[in-house]
Amino acid sequence: MSTLITNIGELVSNAGPDHDPSAGPGPFHAQHDAALVIEDGRVAWTGPAAQAPAADDAVDCAGRTVLPGFVDSHAHLVFAGERSAEFAARMAGRPYQAGGIRSTVAATRAAPDALLRANLAALAGEMLSQGTTTLECKTGYGLTVPDEARSAELAAEITPEVTFLGAHVVPAEYAADPAAYLDLVCGPMLAACAPHARWVDVFCEQGAFGPDEAAAVLAAGQAAGLTPRVHANQLGPGPGVQIAVAAGAASADHCTYLSDADVAALAGSGTVATLLPGVEFATRQPYPDARRLLAAGVTVALATDCNPGSCFTSSMPLCVALAVREMRLTTEEAVWSATAGGARALRRADVGQLAPGTRADLVLLDAPSHAYLAYRPGVPLAAAVWQAGRLAWQAAVQPR
Ligand code: NIG
Ligand code: FE
Repeated sequence: MSTLITNIGELVSNAGPDHDPSAGPGPFHAQHDAALVIEDGRVAWTGPAAQAPAADDAVDCAGRTVLPGFVDSHAHLVFAGERSAEFAARMAGRPYQAGGIRSTVAATRAAPDALLRANLAALAGEMLSQGTTTLECKTGYGLTVPDEARSAELAAEITPEVTFLGAHVVPAEYAADPAAYLDLVCGPMLAACAPHARWVDVFCEQGAFGPDEAAAVLAAGQAAGLTPRVHANQLGPGPGVQIAVAAGAASADHCTYLSDADVAALAGSGTVATLLPGVEFATRQPYPDARRLLAAGVTVALATDCNPGSCFTSSMPLCVALAVREMRLTTEEAVWSATAGGARALRRADVGQLAPGTRADLVLLDAPSHAYLAYRPGVPLAAAVWQAGRLAWQAAVQPR
């Protein structure tokens, strides 16, 4: 079964003519008046619409834009409850504090599986409807062995990109003995979660975990077969980025407060800097200096950080718009970071690009160019989304 997607006004592929897709996505690349053929869930061909081969059926894009599906490489979707009052108080002048996590922990522990599963499905559905076809999902609101294991299992029902984040914050019952909590995280909790996870993460920050603790969590995770990623330098300068690079992490996330040494460490490493502009938007923190990272040669990804505390958006298009407006990425850089950058942060070669052999994960935008993602902020532009070649979502009201 093959499908021809044709009459594409702008096809963003992140795969230029001489690109080898098995090496992962290439630099931003777009072609005009293009077509793409899907076969058995994969991209089989891309090229000029006038040269497209025949297929079993065809979709006429009428000059609209096709992109690789967004790769949201940082989200916390397994939780119950909500914290709109905390958000409103913050907007009225109170600063964001890591301790808010504990209120979501209490609600999550009390929630039945069915409620967590329904919340997860609703958020994943929101993401899909906005063009996200790959998502990472963290544990971190359970913080007991059974609650973390259940979070990991539920996350694994919707994505292969599950991250064990038992080291999110020290839960209230261990406040007097954080060392005992660290032993729990690195011992039985990790053992219960590792079979369901690919990644290990730690919130390395004042009020959460210090450098030695963070390094211990990552080392234990690696010994259990997981690859590190780190919540780093979110609320202030600190050791998180250096810990991430030293551990060979796939990504250091947030990167809001970076020293020159942090930027240099990232530039000389295989660690992606994942920027989360929705967090700065929702916490009124300063946006990270993305241009400084790009100038140093750091690979930059964009992700939502969708969570009930610091940023409750599921929208990659919003993150693209914020990155362009507030962090001064070009529209090309922002779209690359939200697709190919996310793929690099998850060490995936099969997504974030549209080239023969890659997964047919694509978004049809009701727009003549990718720039509309920033030019028309807040407007739902996704008209259709294919996941592994299957039409997974379609706007109820079809575009003009
Ligand atoms: O990525 N920084 C730590 N974790 C989340 C916030 C979680 C919460 O506030 O519930 C984040 O911002
Ligand atoms: Fe996060």
